[in-house]
Amino acid sequence: MSDKIIELVGISKEFDGGTLAVSDFNLHVNRGEFVTFLGPSGCGKTTTLRMIAGFEIPTAGKILLDGKDITNLPPYLRPVNTVFQRYALFPHLNVYDNIAFGLKLKKTFTKAEINKKVSKALQMVDLEDFEKRKVTTLSGGQQQRIAIARAIVNEPEILLLDEPLGALDLKMRKDMQLELKDMQRKLGITFIYVTHDQEEALTMSDRIVVMKDGEVQQIGTPQDIYNEPTNAFVADFIGESNIYNGTIVGDRKVRFINKVFDCVDDFEINAKVDVVVRPEDVEIVKPEEGIVSGQIVSSIFKGVHYEMIMMVGKSEVMIQSTKEVKVGETIGIRVSPDNIHIMKRDFVSNVYDGYIDKINKVHFAEGAFECDVTQLYPGSHLDSEGYVITTTGEKIDLTNVPVRVEVGLKDIEIIDNDEDGDARGSIISIVYKGDHYQIIICTDEEEEEIVCDTEYLWNENDRVSVKIPKDKIKLTLKAVEKK
Ligand SMILES: Nc1ncnc2c1ncn2[C@@H]1O[C@H](COP(=O)(O)OP(=O)(O)OP(=O)(O)O)[C@@H](O)[C@H]1O
Ligand SMILES: [Mg+2]
Repeated sequence: MSDKIIELVGISKEFDGGTLAVSDFNLHVNRGEFVTFLGPSGCGKTTTLRMIAGFEIPTAGKILLDGKDITNLPPYLRPVNTVFQRYALFPHLNVYDNIAFGLKLKKTFTKAEINKKVSKALQMVDLEDFEKRKVTTLSGGQQQRIAIARAIVNEPEILLLDEPLGALDLKMRKDMQLELKDMQRKLGITFIYVTHDQEEALTMSDRIVVMKDGEVQQIGTPQDIYNEPTNAFVADFIGESNIYNGTIVGDRKVRFINKVFDCVDDFEINAKVDVVVRPEDVEIVKPEEGIVSGQIVSSIFKGVHYEMIMMVGKSEVMIQSTKEVKVGETIGIRVSPDNIHIMKRDFVSNVYDGYIDKINKVHFAEGAFECDVTQLYPGSHLDSEGYVITTTGEKIDLTNVPVRVEVGLKDIEIIDNDEDGDARGSIISIVYKGDHYQIIICTDEEEEEIVCDTEYLWNENDRVSVKIPKDKIKLTLKAVEKK
């Protein structure tokens, strides 16, 4: 028998109106496994779960159960139960009847059997004496636990849980996390669990799927994801991290925060990388013994450890340690090479397909920008009508000529309104990189991304526009490139 129970093969979901909620999602889930979908609001977690349950049909790809295609199978024919993001109990039934509902429908159990199953399920969620209560008299947390009991009582092969603990307070949430995990082990049910709480995902899951904008970013065990995040988004989303822009400067040597550190990854020299250092992996030493030293500017007690910020030039280093260092003190730090995580940089510069218009502006990212078109023909100049005259005297009409446009991340100015700049959109992502923010602006129509490095903090969803100095827009002829 195959170990795989569920397989998602390249599934996508595009809703009417064009929202691509999930894009090319690939995953196999093993029998008895606890898999968690983790990601920020709107990243497509619920949509993916609903496709597994059969409430949504993927617009591409297929879903296999035990190797059989169930993509179009209706929900009630799938061996799956769902606990929804918002509890969905029958308000006119009491607790007992809510839980027994599915069992009664099957007509295969005696009354005594149903009684036994219901009390066992109630015991699991710690609500033994609640059988006769009307569900409308229960607290939100109690209702949610009844919803869980109602799902497990059917002993489904697969249980889908969409933020089932969202309504609970922290203490109850922690208790229920352990109980759910315990329940899952005992019953041997495969759990597919949705949360946006990284701590919850790390404590409960066998494997985690980190999602962003409908795309899988990384699939791995909690340890993999925490220790070896594949990109800056995952690192930033999972736990606290220091994230820096770095450059490989030698054999297993990486420079960031203006110092050279030994690392264990092999990348080619001069490669631009993202460097991630977990705050708990920063060792505090005497100033003269550190790879770098600096002053502590903030120190907060967090219950078990202190969380401190040290400045190195313009960069912040977050340090977690059980040893307190007071604000104003200077310390040295070291990081062991295997605690320096290096990832190929997502972006080194923005690259677009664009074209030149009649007045020698270049169009890309849904905007029109002043640029220097003479760079397309070295040594050329513009005549009085705006035509390019090459060194051999040839007159060139660039109207509608396709070009490749390159713009550096630091060469983009963000403007606080969507009118004054030359292209516009909304901020969709902000990652802090030690001494600056890396911001991604998404344009309205074609969803082109404009990636900028800036020292100013913006807010997600801000409407902004951008300006780019004329001399920072690098153009190449597309036709020339193909040769
Ligand atoms: N029926 C629908 N019609 C159109 N768009 C939808 C529909 N359902 C979801 N979406 C869109 O799909 C995207 C993903 O939504 P989804 O509910 O899967 O996110 P999520 O990760 O579960 O978020 P949250 O953590 O807030 O619950 C969102 O942009 C959402 O607006
Ligand atoms: Mg959701």
